[in-house]
Amino acid sequence: MEDHGTVRDDHTPSASQPPFDLHVGDALTAYSRWPTPVTIISDGAYGVRGFHGDPAGPEGLVDWYRPHVERWSRAAHPATTLWFWNTEVGWANVHPLLVEHGWDYVQTITWDKGIAHVAGNVNSRSIRRFPVVSEICVLYQRRFVVETPDGPLPVQEWLRREWLRTGLPLSKANEACGVRNAATRKYLTRDWVWYWPPGRMLERLAKYANEHGEPTGWPYFSLDGKSILTAKQWDSLRYRWNHQHGLTNVWRRGPLHDEERLKGTRRRVAPRVHRTTPASSAHLNQKPLEFMERLVRAVTEPGDVVWEPFGGLASASVAAVTLGRRAYVAEIDAEFAALARERLQAAWEAVRRDATTGT
Ligand SMILES: C[S@@+](CC[C@H](N)C(=O)[O-])C[C@H]1O[C@@H](n2cnc3c(N)ncnc32)[C@H](O)[C@@H]1O
Repeated sequence: MEDHGTVRDDHTPSASQPPFDLHVGDALTAYSRWPTPVTIISDGAYGVRGFHGDPAGPEGLVDWYRPHVERWSRAAHPATTLWFWNTEVGWANVHPLLVEHGWDYVQTITWDKGIAHVAGNVNSRSIRRFPVVSEICVLYQRRFVVETPDGPLPVQEWLRREWLRTGLPLSKANEACGVRNAATRKYLTRDWVWYWPPGRMLERLAKYANEHGEPTGWPYFSLDGKSILTAKQWDSLRYRWNHQHGLTNVWRRGPLHDEERLKGTRRRVAPRVHRTTPASSAHLNQKPLEFMERLVRAVTEPGDVVWEPFGGLASASVAAVTLGRRAYVAEIDAEFAALARERLQAAWEAVRRDATTGT
């Protein structure tokens, strides 16, 4: 049986300990120390030479991401989600790698930076396509596969198989759940209009199956072959989703130009930056905190662990700290990491200030 329940989390949050862990170095050397992530926010290479080490084209991205994706997949719990930022073509290149490693596509968020992003960047006489003003962030969930004596089964097939093993007619599932026909139609169907049963329904199915099913097949609806799944265990295997009213999968907002954007380091932060001025950005890829907060809020609860393997200025982790989550972030470049640390520290101080003033 696959181990579906192990969550590595040795960290006990306390008021005096910072709710973030910044690793200055390669994320590959930090993963084994980090607790199990509830979500991973990846904003790494785009294949556009956006930072030192970012490949020059999208073809180089699979090799760049492979060792990270392998580690994420090993560390993930069935309810772990992944947010993957990139360009459209960068993501298209990496998507098969993610699928190969057990990440299932959920949806794409498009950041529409608007027409203002075009101004000055495009020569309308030489361009032979529409100007690009977007970046995307793609949500993945872990594929939930159950190991059975007949081989691994996707969760939908496994639920149906468990019921069929009992020898009970499918219609008895409705009686088990106390509904007219929804259980058979929604939870035990073979077709695409399948619904993930909520924990309380799964528990009812399991109880009924174990009380009325063929005794020779016992236990039914068990992941370890011994104990029968409870509502709580079942619900913990599915990623959380906190609905945010009014948001769609297209987010309109210009690139960061306001006071949130860090400037003035005068450093050549990427191979494609040639001359710097005091107005140059400290990092080419700094993401709006507003967006990172939306991602964190959607799939985590306060106290949950958020991984940000490619920190830059640690925008996802700053968002996580602000929202009371625990951030684990790596940044390989010591100068970016120093700026990230200042931001994380400031976010934590703001949280503590708000807690003492009660705001
Ligand atoms: C696209 S930027 C992230 C920007 C970030 N989202 C922000 O808002 O500031 C990617 C960052 O990952 C860092 N990086 C690249 N490879 C890394 C690795 N193996 N481990 C840790 N950091 C890495 C780069 O130095 C760069 O700062």
